[in-house]
Amino acid sequence: MSKKATLHLEGHDPVELPVISGQLGSDVIDIRRLYADTGLFTFDPGFTSTASCESKITFIDGDKGLLYYRGYPIEQLAEHSDYLEVCYLLVFGKLPNAEEKEQFELGVLRHNMVHEQLTWFFRGFRRDAHPMSMMVGVIGALAAFYQDSLDISNPDHRRIAEYRIIAKIPTLAAMCYRYSKGLPFNYPRNNLSYTANFMHMMFAKPTEEYVVNPVLERALDRIFILHADHEQNASTSTVRLAGSSGANPFACIAAGIACLWGPAHGGANEAVLKMLDEIGDVSHVEEFMRGVKEKRYRLMGFGHRVYKNMDPRAKIMKKTCDEVLKELGLQDDPKFKLAMALEKIALEDPYFVERKLYPNVDFYSGIVLSAIGIPVSMFTVVFALARSVGWISHWHEMIADPHQKIGRPRQLYTGEQRRDFVAVEDR
Ligand code: CMC
Repeated sequence: MSKKATLHLEGHDPVELPVISGQLGSDVIDIRRLYADTGLFTFDPGFTSTASCESKITFIDGDKGLLYYRGYPIEQLAEHSDYLEVCYLLVFGKLPNAEEKEQFELGVLRHNMVHEQLTWFFRGFRRDAHPMSMMVGVIGALAAFYQDSLDISNPDHRRIAEYRIIAKIPTLAAMCYRYSKGLPFNYPRNNLSYTANFMHMMFAKPTEEYVVNPVLERALDRIFILHADHEQNASTSTVRLAGSSGANPFACIAAGIACLWGPAHGGANEAVLKMLDEIGDVSHVEEFMRGVKEKRYRLMGFGHRVYKNMDPRAKIMKKTCDEVLKELGLQDDPKFKLAMALEKIALEDPYFVERKLYPNVDFYSGIVLSAIGIPVSMFTVVFALARSVGWISHWHEMIADPHQKIGRPRQLYTGEQRRDFVAVEDR
């Protein structure tokens, strides 16, 4: 027998609402007919109790600290897989066999260059522009280069957009960095892995051979895996909402990047490093924590809307962080020592314990990225690079759904009642 919820409303007959169960996680009360049957909307700003869509891609249990991509626990993927394989998993819904893996990798490599005209597009930006502002612009601009394959009702066009997004994002991300530094752009190199290639495009000098450190390559690949998808977060919901109008995939991804930029979302890893700089020294930690508890500012990299237990990504990232600091001999670096001091206090302090505020993935990823040599202003760009596969997978899932509708939330209006216009001389 399927479950039902009954809503008792003054002046109405009781309203029966179907309760739908997914494969895992909380059941949902289906309110799709509520307005038609009662004339009432539900009110849930911030969507704290609202499932905005049905999805088969990622599952999170925030209380237990679980994260699965297509059913696979994130810990297993981070340990045994690589980012491109995870991309395949997210896009196609299953792990590839050896031949599918090879074909997919070749397909991505084939698309990793960008139109030469895009290099001129960059020259319109100021050199000191934030790389995220350039990313929003150049990703949106990709639509101008693929006008012959933007028919979103055509599955082949949707598929090629996925390859293009996955393949070109590292190239464009590295170009943002190189442009801001006044360095020449590096073309991708197809003898390197996806992640090593990104490092090459970021750091190689035209005058010297660039040798990729495998420990750092693995750490960065792991950052990509951990950030590849995260269910209906703000930027993914933005991509879905933008895509629901039928907008082209590049415009939708640009919208996702714009949303990700905010400090409460993808900007947090950048905010963590800025916070460490502001605190400056372990001796200032106590005073800083007083300000956090007086709610003058937040401890960046702590807390999560969904995880009310340790973020499973943070556990993996902490291990990676230790490996990278060891590899680079940075265990005694004052900034990293400061971060560890903050972490220790926050994990024990009743303010954080009572509110279930644990370190999130961004607390550690910022430290790892900084140790690898990626500048703070590029942190959110790296997050965008990794998350783009999640965005495009959600976009595709939504567009392929025959019941898909334009996203159009309603509101609780609290403005003025109807009133008549008054001529300016009479006001
Ligand atoms: N530092 C200090 N206090 C905090 C923090 C923090 N980082 N986060 C939440 N709180 C307090 C908040 O003041 C509130 O206290 P009270 O109950 O006394 O009013 C309580 O904890 C609940 O906070 P909330 O704002 O209702 O929680 P939320 O679920 O709306 O916010 C969050 C989630 C991530 C926006 C928030 O924890 C935050 O601002 N964290 C810092 C920014 C950050 O690290 N963001 C990255 C998120 S992970 C990356 C991603 O997946 O996008």
